[in-house]
Amino acid sequence: MKVLVIGSGGREHALLWKLAHSPSVKEVYVIPGNDGMTDVAHLIPVKGTEDILDFARLMEVDLTVAGPETVLTEGLADKFAEKGMAFFGPSAAAAQIEGSKSFAKNLMKKYKIPTAAYETFTDEEKAVSYIKKRKKYPLVIKADGLASGKGVVIAETEEQAVQAVRGMLEGKTFGSAGESVVIEEFMEGEEASVLCFTDGNTIVPMISAQDHKRISDGDMGANTGGMGAYAPAPVMTKELDKIVYDTILLPAVKAMKKEGCPFKGCLYAGLMITKDGPKVVEFNCRFGDPETEPVLPLLESDLAKIMLACTKGTLKKERVEWKNACAVDVVLASEGYPATHSSGEEIVGLEEAKKTTGCLVFHAGSMKKNGRYFVNGGRVLNVAAVAPTLKEAQDKAYEGVSKISWRGMQYRHDIADKGLKRLKKRK
Ligand code: AMP
Ligand code: GLY
Repeated sequence: MKVLVIGSGGREHALLWKLAHSPSVKEVYVIPGNDGMTDVAHLIPVKGTEDILDFARLMEVDLTVAGPETVLTEGLADKFAEKGMAFFGPSAAAAQIEGSKSFAKNLMKKYKIPTAAYETFTDEEKAVSYIKKRKKYPLVIKADGLASGKGVVIAETEEQAVQAVRGMLEGKTFGSAGESVVIEEFMEGEEASVLCFTDGNTIVPMISAQDHKRISDGDMGANTGGMGAYAPAPVMTKELDKIVYDTILLPAVKAMKKEGCPFKGCLYAGLMITKDGPKVVEFNCRFGDPETEPVLPLLESDLAKIMLACTKGTLKKERVEWKNACAVDVVLASEGYPATHSSGEEIVGLEEAKKTTGCLVFHAGSMKKNGRYFVNGGRVLNVAAVAPTLKEAQDKAYEGVSKISWRGMQYRHDIADKGLKRLKKRK
């Protein structure tokens, strides 16, 4: 098979790496990709939907895979479908499950999928008077549209809530993503990410994972795209896996079909494990970043075959097997992330990190010049490690991290600590 991946981050590097190791795959291409991906893929400098379609047709690509949500909400899957070409990822209509918080919340309400109670507003004064009636804090304020995982304010006081709503509805904080806002109750608990493969009917959950959204150790500081993840997440027990399948994943996929927008691809359920059971924080219409980096190295089966089966509606016949192991992924970010974009610093120690047994390095925001790598802003690299236990995977990942440095490099030192603590308590 010839496979094409769209995107340029750490998630896409992990997808490419896994696809390159799929026995059924001969060639792997990426558009636009980043310089660090050339170990597993051909970088194709093409832009725009028509050129992507032309490339896929000319090169006789057998399967195209979407990384980020934006290409999906913009309808890339629909364009491929029009031409009869296989594409892993939902249609624009189905991608609304991530693209519009109010679409997702209304769907959950209609089909009784557990989530936080909420109201949607476009009128600033109505939103403010609703807030003034709320007595319970924190209160969660969300921009309705896509805001790269950053359009959420956890307001501790009425003043903060009002300020957040005004900022969003006046279009100042999140641009058009904030033209409408969702105000919802705060859910107490531990978070987990459960991603699944689906062909619109059959659902195959992946190994659970846990992201670390805040910039600093101990879940402090600003929200980011994600500073690291590990899999499996001990917060997800076998019983919870079943509850999530029965009360969240299956009803959601059935609901999408019933609403006339069947979901095919990777459906990501961001969950809060509350004392009343798992509730949905958000749905995403694609693989998580950084969850993909620890989850895919644990997949035993041929990823390309599974994805192709999702596009054809034959997932039921596929064998999807996982390694009996654990994985930890640590994100290395540039100075000032997430507030500012720093670039140009030279990255040292990459080769040494890659030589650390069990370590994988996935590139996100790096660039290569004259054979040397430099920082290109945001989340720069991921160091992922697979090992028989979570503790060993954590140790390996941080051993890999210790080999890499650049001026201003920042990372969290506690990725997987929460999972280890839970495992210890269980003993
Ligand atoms: P989202 O973009 O909806 O995933 O929200 C980003 C982050 O904000 C989540 O990962 C949670 O940590 C937090 N969050 C969002 N909604 C809630 C909620 N209703 N209760 C508690 N935390 C939330
Ligand atoms: N890990 C969060 C996300 O992919 O949205």
